[in-house]
Amino acid sequence: MKRGLAELDVNGRRVFVRADFNVPLDGSAIRDDSRIRASLPTIRHLRDRGARLVLASHLGRPRGAARPELSLAPVAESLGQCLGAAVPLAPDSVGPEIERLTRELADGDVLLLENVRFHPGEEADDPAHVRSLARLADCYVNDAFGTAHRAHASTTGLAHALPAAAGHLMLAELRALDPIVQGPPRPFAAIVGGAKISDKITLLERLAATADILILGGAMANTFLAADGVGIGRSRAESAAGAVARIQSAAAAAGCALVLPVDAVVATEVSADAAPTTVGLHAVPADAMILDIGPASLAAYAEALAGARTVLWNGPVGVYELAPFAGGTLGLARLLADSPARVVVAGGDAVAAAQASGRAGDFAHLSTGGGATLELIEGRELPGLAALPEA
Ligand code: 3PG
Repeated sequence: MKRGLAELDVNGRRVFVRADFNVPLDGSAIRDDSRIRASLPTIRHLRDRGARLVLASHLGRPRGAARPELSLAPVAESLGQCLGAAVPLAPDSVGPEIERLTRELADGDVLLLENVRFHPGEEADDPAHVRSLARLADCYVNDAFGTAHRAHASTTGLAHALPAAAGHLMLAELRALDPIVQGPPRPFAAIVGGAKISDKITLLERLAATADILILGGAMANTFLAADGVGIGRSRAESAAGAVARIQSAAAAAGCALVLPVDAVVATEVSADAAPTTVGLHAVPADAMILDIGPASLAAYAEALAGARTVLWNGPVGVYELAPFAGGTLGLARLLADSPARVVVAGGDAVAAAQASGRAGDFAHLSTGGGATLELIEGRELPGLAALPEA
């Protein structure tokens, strides 16, 4: 277990807190503040203990240059509202002026640094840049689980430069996800949706070998159906017969049941005004696209999930952003919310769908990580985590 906040002496000291405030924006409006709210337990804990907080995050991919549209200004405002205290935004993330601002902090104060990725040294984990960041604080907390798969100056470099610990969110994510990696209570079912299998081949191979049941949905299921010779009309699919065969044989070797949709909601256009129909998978019209699972598939999923003790859900099973094709994904969210299994939801789209179902509180865990969560479940080492000291 990694060293936690309780083991760090923070009273009256400047604490550099690397958070993941990489939130979706509509212009300067934050569309989903889940990542900001998830960081509050660490921030509150440190303030209550008299720390002087120097908060840092990236936003988007500015590639080493200052881009005003990727300023953390909206995050500073949102954080200030959450904390009921002013959260000033520093004009940069390194330099003498920023050092001065950190030295003027009083106990319990919070300063947010500007987007750390405005400097090329951040993603390069450049030693000189790490030294500049280290001058801003006396100790370091990494609470950026969502960025733990990146080896950057503020996620790995600083962990070696200052006395370091993991934040509450980092440890909560590990507590929730580690059992899935190490061997969860069985039967263990995984549901993987989304558009492409090419992004998730390692994940699917891993789950085929470790889960008891692997349920597929979304456009990625089309790739499996097409490989099995099912007519999928104009549906989105990849030519990935090799990957499909590998996943199928990994599942067969491990005794994992692969569950595919048995019916589909189809339409000739991907639009909110489309007139969808539901058909069996032997009857997808040649000019139509599969855009959601139908009720028979949801019933088949429910049957496969009955008795499961652990469920991992990643990826929507239809184009859930459009009302005509949202029924399958929202129905799945409700099915899982009602399940007695321990259900962990991973990935931005599945988490958004769980929230849209109105049942977010009924899931065991909604992960704040995207790529980081998937890499952890794939069994890969996360550099941001590996850099933190053991308790
Ligand atoms: C994420 O949103 O997955 C993290 O914030 C990491 O962002 P990145 O993929 O730009 O490194």
